[in-house]
Amino acid sequence: MPNLVIVGAQWGDEGKGKVIDLLTEHADAVVRFQGGNNAGHTVVFGGQKQVLHLIPCGILHEGKICVIGNGVVVDPDALIQEIEQLQTAGFHIGENLKISNLSPVTFAFHRALDKAKEMKRGKEKIDTTHRGIGPTYADKYSRLGIRMIDLLDEKRLRNRLEQTLDEKNYLFKHYFALETFKINDLLVEYLALGEKLRPHVTDTAFLINTLLAEGKNVLFEGAQGTYLDVDFGTYPFVTSSHPIAGGASIGTGVGPTRIDEVLGVAKAYATRVGAGPFPTEWEGGGEALRQKGNEFGATTGRPRRCGWFDAITVRRAAMINGFEQMALTKLDILSGFSKIKICIGYKIEGRLQEDFPASAEEMDVVEPVYQELDGWQEDISAIKEYEKLPENTKKYISEIEKRVGVKITIISLGEDRKQTILLRSFFK
Ligand code: IMP
Repeated sequence: MPNLVIVGAQWGDEGKGKVIDLLTEHADAVVRFQGGNNAGHTVVFGGQKQVLHLIPCGILHEGKICVIGNGVVVDPDALIQEIEQLQTAGFHIGENLKISNLSPVTFAFHRALDKAKEMKRGKEKIDTTHRGIGPTYADKYSRLGIRMIDLLDEKRLRNRLEQTLDEKNYLFKHYFALETFKINDLLVEYLALGEKLRPHVTDTAFLINTLLAEGKNVLFEGAQGTYLDVDFGTYPFVTSSHPIAGGASIGTGVGPTRIDEVLGVAKAYATRVGAGPFPTEWEGGGEALRQKGNEFGATTGRPRRCGWFDAITVRRAAMINGFEQMALTKLDILSGFSKIKICIGYKIEGRLQEDFPASAEEMDVVEPVYQELDGWQEDISAIKEYEKLPENTKKYISEIEKRVGVKITIISLGEDRKQTILLRSFFK
């Protein structure tokens, strides 16, 4: 199996970083296809923790080609800081890192706009990461975007900045009552950042397609999750990209017929960071589960809202992404509960809901219908074989498989690479 797309089946933070890191061992290249430095992929090995935001997790392994695809928005300042941090920690970053020449660039004014728009929304805010992600994608789609290739040419960059800043400075001054941005300052700053990144900037669509033609193993690394997708998520409480499997094609220039397999990743319970509907959330945000699972955002440190596993959302995620197999993560966190619940239906005004609510307002008022299972008390974090798991843990896993309609092929029982039960081989 030469290539695999890994996607989040919930609201992000499913533990994709660990799964990607694990499978990278047998991959030749790892490719990010959407999002930006709003993502935070945590990888732990040998007691050492690394949090990656823009650079694919493959960078932690020697000899892997790591690609930031055209679907990713790149904040060059944040990227250079990440490169330097990783280099200080002893990781090699040179010819192994490739950045698409087509990636939209996030500027300081995108970050300022993100914050200003959130302020204006007041109580209705999305609770974004303030990384400028939404405004960068908005510029791309309104054809005012500035791409990596433009950072490498002063005349082009000046032209593009003039086009895009005209309207934005008007907004900053007259609508938000904030400082405006000066083209000359931005030119100096961003040309210098572009120069630093120049050796990495290339035609990554050609590169990835060539690797695939050579039969190399390629891993497509999704960030965020299905319910943060700008089309299929709980709109408008979503991010501005396509974290679903289809995004891998658009965000890399690899045709859908060239993509072999999709692996969904879901946490054994559910979490969400930021505002928006979350049907199975525990009352008060699930403080006990948050502490037990250490559920705090890897990028912003914000507390994550926590709740029971929602088979309705994950089943729909399997459909939208086309995955038939799934990695189930953080199962160890559920040890110690006498009863564990799985959401198996939604009710609206007392009626069982057959369709998936399309609006955030409807999704907000659904009443989850639960199936209750007996829990297990044992610490399962050091178990290496499926057969050795407690009977009730196995029942929980098979109930999820049945309700979601997928096979669970990876079970993660802790943050270290070694705390994993792999039930099939990938990239033979
Ligand atoms: P943005 O992506 O910064 O625009 O934020 C939009 C929404 O997506 C907010 O609710 C964020 O909390 C959420 N979000 C963005 N990136 C991540 C992530 O990597 N994990 C979880 N939630 C995220």
